[in-house]
Amino acid sequence: MCGIVGYTGREDASPVLLDGLRRLEYRGYDSAGIVVAQGGTFTLAKSSGHVARLDELTRGGRDLPGNIGLGHTRWATHGQPTDTNAHPHISDGGKIAVVHNGIIENYARLREFLRSKGMSFQSQTDTEVATNLIAYFYAESGDILSAVASAARRMEGSYALGIMCEDMPGTLIATRRENPLVLGFGDGCNYLASDVAAILLHTRRVIRLADFEIAALTADSVTLYTGELDKLEREPETIEWDVSAAEKGGYEHFMIKEIMEQPEVVRKTLSPRIRNGEIILDGAEITDEYIRALSRIYIVACGSASYAGVVGKYSIEKLARIPAEVVFASEFRYCDPVLNANTLVICVSQSGTTADTIAAMREAKARGAKVLSIVNVVGSTIAEESDWTLYTWAGPEICVASTKGYSTQLALLYVLALRFARAKNTLSDAQFSEAVAALLVLPDKMEETLGLREELQYLASQYFSRDDMYYIGRGTDYALCLEACLKLKEISYIHSEAFAAGEMKHGPIALINRERETLVVAVATNRGLVDKTVSNIIELCSRGARVITVTTQSARTVIEGNDDIRGETVAVSDFYEAFLPSLAIIPLQFFAYYTALALGRDIDKPRNLAKSVTVE
Ligand code: F6R
Repeated sequence: MCGIVGYTGREDASPVLLDGLRRLEYRGYDSAGIVVAQGGTFTLAKSSGHVARLDELTRGGRDLPGNIGLGHTRWATHGQPTDTNAHPHISDGGKIAVVHNGIIENYARLREFLRSKGMSFQSQTDTEVATNLIAYFYAESGDILSAVASAARRMEGSYALGIMCEDMPGTLIATRRENPLVLGFGDGCNYLASDVAAILLHTRRVIRLADFEIAALTADSVTLYTGELDKLEREPETIEWDVSAAEKGGYEHFMIKEIMEQPEVVRKTLSPRIRNGEIILDGAEITDEYIRALSRIYIVACGSASYAGVVGKYSIEKLARIPAEVVFASEFRYCDPVLNANTLVICVSQSGTTADTIAAMREAKARGAKVLSIVNVVGSTIAEESDWTLYTWAGPEICVASTKGYSTQLALLYVLALRFARAKNTLSDAQFSEAVAALLVLPDKMEETLGLREELQYLASQYFSRDDMYYIGRGTDYALCLEACLKLKEISYIHSEAFAAGEMKHGPIALINRERETLVVAVATNRGLVDKTVSNIIELCSRGARVITVTTQSARTVIEGNDDIRGETVAVSDFYEAFLPSLAIIPLQFFAYYTALALGRDIDKPRNLAKSVTVE
């Protein structure tokens, strides 16, 4: 939620900032702005809309010369996405410039306090409050570091801040609480950014700032301090990501690139976890005794990650026979969960910075449960604070709609289910080996499933103009419907809902409209449930629905041979049933993508959304 980038060096800052902002747009794209300083004087440009607009407005940054600057791309929280509310904000009096990611929860009280001291405000944002608060303490102390430290002590909520002070030309100040900020080490220059993707083109050597730490960056130095301004020493780490992972690489959108990458990243995620036919949980050395004593598992996550959790629940219950429940992280604290030392909470998060999931994780720990997290972004808050962390090796996921993030989460949930099953002896040796063998070939099977791309492009071209689409399925097929439906609505804006197939007759079937030939996507891959889902499909077709059925090769004939079904069939390979969701999701992702493409939507940056949701 909001992207920050900063540069101090000897080159022109603006092009570096604009390029960084383009790479951070997945974090928010309501408005964008940059501030650059030359000889201590700020020049500011900001505008509502995408970074491309700011680029145009500043003629690729040529209108803002200067060797130090800060940039910001916004997902509005306080105040509409207008030019005035866009960051950077300049303090009353003009001395301090600030970009901010997060929410200052006590901003209203602080604003009153600052007004009582005679300060005035131009925008509706909490960021301008942070800016003036720093300026207020700076006026008192004349020392920017202590002003930032004092302001940080008074701000409640979450923030990552990039700060410039007119009296310190050449220096960027950074601090954070619960929002990511990395410092990048260049040659004769240094950087700060919300995410390494913004600066990877320039440097791979980074330090991740920890909560409350403060950093001062000049072209030649990076100095780290605690919140109390004691100096800290920390060696930079080297980022291994391939720069091309954050580029489109010839694809029209990141989404299609990321769909196509799924076999490869699932392979990367699985291979370190399978050794000589056994499951290894690197980063989560859980004992058999602990697993055997587990009475319940909660899977806590938001959006797609929670829908991966629904598949995980089925796998864990089926393979390891441990009761598992999926709760939206935003609801977890309010459902008064029954937690104790025998409850495991699994937090699933691509970004590792989702505010609701962080809050749920902390609640679980406070109530005495252990937390195991499945996270993609290395070093993120959830990864750092969990008792155990398993990383998905999906690489940077840039498209706001999750695809490879989701698939790698599924893969790790299968791995966990098998680890639990092994500890609890719920599978015979032969059954366990069969499951592990299936995991090993899963990436190849996914590769094969990518071959359905053109078929789904054709189907999308037939149906993209529909106003509504519904998804139905049973068991893990229902779990897939939840994800497929979210994918469709978030990138195409078509109204869509997912139903457990058996529930249709209890109300939703009233939505089927014969005149409009309502489109339903049915997922029927589960061998034991195909016949039941087919009955539901027929009930819908007899009321005028048209149904695209996603099924397996072996069940295809059952569906195509049934004259009562009107519609098309898409078949994935027959495969180990518990892991079939990883294949069946692929055509559903293609369908959402090509539908949105046919509608001309902004696929990688859908309206109103942001990739990293750091507000509750
Ligand atoms: C949908 C999507 C979101 C995220 C959700 C959780 O395509 O990407 O629903 O899954 O916001 O985000 P993370 O996984 O970063 O916690």
